[in-house]
Amino acid sequence: MRTKNAKTIHLKDYRPPEYLIDDVELFIDLLDESAQVTSRLHIRKNPASGTLNPALKLDGEGLQLQAVALDDQPLPDEAYQVDERTLTVPNVPDRFVLTTQVVIYPQKNTALEGLYRSGGLYCTQCEAEGFRRITYYLDRPDVMARFATTISASKADNPVMLANGNCVEERELEGGRHLVCWKDPFPKPCYLFAMVAGNLRFQQDSFTTLSGREVDLRIYVEPENIDKCDHAMSSLKKAMAWDEERYGREYDLDIYMIVAVNDFNMGAMENKGLNIFNSKYVLARTDTATDNDYQGIEGVIAHEYFHNWTGNRITCRDWFQLSLKEGLTVFRDQEFSADMGSRGVKRIDDVRLLRSHQFAEDAGPMAHPVRPDSYIEINNFYTVTVYEKGAEVVRMQANLLGPELYRKATDLYFRRHDGEAVTTDDFVRCMEDASGRDLTQFRLWYSQSGTPVVEVEAEYNAQQGSYRLSFRQHCPDTPGQQDKRPFHIPVAIALLDREGNELPLQLQGEAEPQATRRVLELSAADQQFTFVGFEEQPIPSLLRGFSAPVKLRYPATDEELMFLMARDTDDFNRWDASQALAQRTLLKLVADYRAGKNLSLDAGLAGAFETALKNSAADKALLSEVLRLPGESTLGDQMDVVDVEAIHHVREWLKHALASRLRHHLIDVYQQNCAGYAYDIESTSIARRRLRNLALDYLMHLDDPEIHKLCYNQFQTANNMTDVMAALSCLSNTDCPERDQALAAFEKQWIDEPLVMDKWFAVQASSRLPGTLQQVKALMEHKAFSLRNPNKVRSLIGVFCSINVNAFHMPDGSGYAFLTDQVIALDRLNPQIAARMIRIMSRWRRYDELRQGLMRAQFERVLSHADISKDVYEIASKCLAEAGDD
Ligand code: TRP
Ligand code: ZN
Repeated sequence: MRTKNAKTIHLKDYRPPEYLIDDVELFIDLLDESAQVTSRLHIRKNPASGTLNPALKLDGEGLQLQAVALDDQPLPDEAYQVDERTLTVPNVPDRFVLTTQVVIYPQKNTALEGLYRSGGLYCTQCEAEGFRRITYYLDRPDVMARFATTISASKADNPVMLANGNCVEERELEGGRHLVCWKDPFPKPCYLFAMVAGNLRFQQDSFTTLSGREVDLRIYVEPENIDKCDHAMSSLKKAMAWDEERYGREYDLDIYMIVAVNDFNMGAMENKGLNIFNSKYVLARTDTATDNDYQGIEGVIAHEYFHNWTGNRITCRDWFQLSLKEGLTVFRDQEFSADMGSRGVKRIDDVRLLRSHQFAEDAGPMAHPVRPDSYIEINNFYTVTVYEKGAEVVRMQANLLGPELYRKATDLYFRRHDGEAVTTDDFVRCMEDASGRDLTQFRLWYSQSGTPVVEVEAEYNAQQGSYRLSFRQHCPDTPGQQDKRPFHIPVAIALLDREGNELPLQLQGEAEPQATRRVLELSAADQQFTFVGFEEQPIPSLLRGFSAPVKLRYPATDEELMFLMARDTDDFNRWDASQALAQRTLLKLVADYRAGKNLSLDAGLAGAFETALKNSAADKALLSEVLRLPGESTLGDQMDVVDVEAIHHVREWLKHALASRLRHHLIDVYQQNCAGYAYDIESTSIARRRLRNLALDYLMHLDDPEIHKLCYNQFQTANNMTDVMAALSCLSNTDCPERDQALAAFEKQWIDEPLVMDKWFAVQASSRLPGTLQQVKALMEHKAFSLRNPNKVRSLIGVFCSINVNAFHMPDGSGYAFLTDQVIALDRLNPQIAARMIRIMSRWRRYDELRQGLMRAQFERVLSHADISKDVYEIASKCLAEAGDD
C-alpha cells in the first residue's frame, strides 16, 4: 500500500466490542485558539466478548493528550501507550472510570469532521468516525452510552451553547465565561453526538404528539437568516405528524433542535435531538430559494427527523450496515414527499437519479453491494448505492408485503430492536416474521452488487388467445463478484387493449381472472408466464412504477411506445415510454451524426410531443417530465464508447429542431402558464412553473432576439427565485447582450447571500458557451468563492465537471487537469470532498482511447503524491485497478 493508513476493513472480521461504555461525561472548554476536552468514560467489560483480559484500545486522531486517569488516579506514562490513532491501556479492571484530557484545534479543522468552526460558530460532525477527533473513545456504532455534555465558553462570543438531549444547567463563570450542561437520556453511539456554540437566533414552535406530549421545536440560524426558517419549521411539523400516522412513531425528547451551518460536507446530520444542517437545506425565502430548494428542504428535514427512529433508537451494528438506516430512511422520506406533493413526479425524480447515478456506480470500478463487504475509508461509502438502491430494496419489500403486513413488520422491527445496534439481516427477518414469507433469496439484493438486466420476450397465440411473457435475467460481473445468482425480482405488470383498458389477468391453470394489475415474481434465470383469455394481442405495460431496480429490455416498437406514452394507466410508465422514445431518437441521431449524415427530425417524436403539448391542460407535472429529454450522461450510458461531443451536439440540435417545429405550441404553453399568480409552493403551482420554464428553455434554443427579450423580462420581473433562475440559466447558455447584464445584476443583488451566490456560480459553470473552463477558473478568484466551503466547491467545480459534460471532457484534457489540480489542493483541506470530486472521473474507461489516457494520467498523478488521504487513495487506486481485480 502506498498510503500509510490504507488498510482494508472487512465485514467478515466483525467482532463484538471487548468493552462497553454506559455513561460519558464530556467537558468541553472552548478557548481562543483551541478547545480542551475532558472525558470521563464509565466503562465495563462486555460480557458477550470472549477475550480474556483484553487491553483497552480507544480510538483517537489529532488529539494532544494531556493526562489519563483510571478511577480518578492519574496514570503514569508507562501505564498506557499512545500512537497516531489509538490510546491503549493494557491493564484495566472489569469496571472502571477512565478520564482523559486532550487539546484540539477547531479553528484549524478544515476537514469539517469532529469539532470545527463554520464562520463564527462552533459545530460538530461525528458520523461516521469524527468523534475520535474530539476525544479518545470506542468509536464504533455498537457501543451505546448515555451522554452528559458540559460546555463552557466566552458568553459574548457564544451566547448559545447546545448539545444533545435536555438542558439541565446554565451558569455564569468568571472572566465573562458561562457554562451549560446537557443530558441525553437515550443511550446512543458516539456518531450521534453533537454540540454547537455561537451567536445564534432561533425560530420556535411546538408540536403535540399523539400521546399528548408537547415538544419544543427550535431552528437555530445566524441572526441574518432568521427570516428564512418558516418552510423548514412547517416541514418539520408535517414530518412529525406523518411518522405518527404512517409508522406509529412519536418523538421522544422534550426538545428538537435544528442548527443551520454554512460549511458542511453533506446535506444534514441526524444527531439525537440536535440535527445539524447544511444551511442549503434549511433556509428559504420566496426570493432566495427555488421550488427545488423548497422540496429539498422538506425532504431533508423529514429524512433527518425520521432517523430518530430509523438510525438513532435503532442503530447500525457496524458501518457495513449503513443502509439499514439510510436505505430505510430514504424510502421513508421518499414516501413522505410523495404524500406531500405530486406522487408521480416524485417517483420519476427518484428513478431518474437512480438510473443516472446509481446504475452508473453499479457499472463502474466503485460498484459495491447495498451492504458492502469491505472498505478502506467508510466516508467513501455514503453512496447512491447505499442510499438510493438501499431505498429501492426496502420499497420492494414493502410492496411484496403490501401495506398492512409491511406496517406489521415495521412495528415488529421497532418493538424487537428498540435500543439496539443491528444489521440489515435483522431488518429482513422482521419482514419475514411478520409476513410468513421466506426472503432468503431476496437477501441477495443486499450482498450482490451490479444492476440486473431483465430481458423480456412476448408471444401472442391468436388461436389459443394466450399471451406468454418470457423473462431472462442476468447480472454483469462487478469488482470482486463474478457469476451472480438470480435475484428475486418483483415485476409489476398490466396488459392493455387498444383503447388502453387494463385486461383481466388469468394465468394458465388459474380458474378465473384475478386482478388487472399483478406482480410477477422472478426467481430463476429464465421464467415464463402464460396468460389466457385474449381476443386480440395486448400491449404490455411492464415494471410499472419501476417495481425493481433493474434494466428492463423489451423490444417495443415506436408505435407501442407512443401508445404507452399516451395511454398507459401507470403514470410512471407513461413517462418511461416517452423517455425510451426520445432516447431511441437521440441515439439514432448520434449514429447519423457520426456517419456524417445530415440530421433530420423524427416525425414520430415530434408528433408525440405535439400531441402532449396540445393536451397541456391535463397533467402539467407529468407533461414537463415527458418533454424533458434524457440527459447527456444517460445517453452516454447507452453507448459502447461514450461520444461526448456527438451526444452534446445532437441533443442540442434536437432541442433546436423541436423548438422550431413546435414554436407556437411552446409559446402558447409559456404564455398560458405565465405570471399573474401569487407565489406559492402547491404542487400545481410548481408544475406550472416547471412546464413554463421548460418551454422557455426550448424556445431559447432558437437564438431569436425576441425570445431573448422575453427571457430577460422574466428574469427582471419574476416574483420568485424559480423563475429568476430558470431565466438566468437560459441566458447563461446564450451569447446575447442580456446575458452579462443579468449575471451582473444578480451578483450585485445577492453578493451577501452565500446560498444565492452558489446558484450564480453554478449557472455559469454549466454554461454551454465556449470558454467556460476559463470562466470557472476566473470565478475561483471571486471574493465569494472559497475552496474551504463545500457548497462553493460543488457549485463551481462540481457542476462544471459533472454537469457540463462536453466542456469537462475537452479532448485537450484541460478539464481533467483542472479537476485534478483542485482534488490535490482540496485533499489537504478536506479529504471527504476531494474524494467526492475525483469520483467524477471514475467511469474513465467508458471513453475513447485518447480521453482514457488523459484521465488515467491524472489518476496516476494523484497517486504519485506521497501524502494523499486514504479517502482519495481508495477512489484513485480502485479506479485504476484492472477490471476484475478486487
Ligand atoms: N447521516 C447523514 C444523513 O442523514 C449523512 C451525513 C451527514 C454524513 N454528514 C456526514 C455522512 C458526514 C458522512 C460524513 O444522510
Ligand atoms: Zn440519512
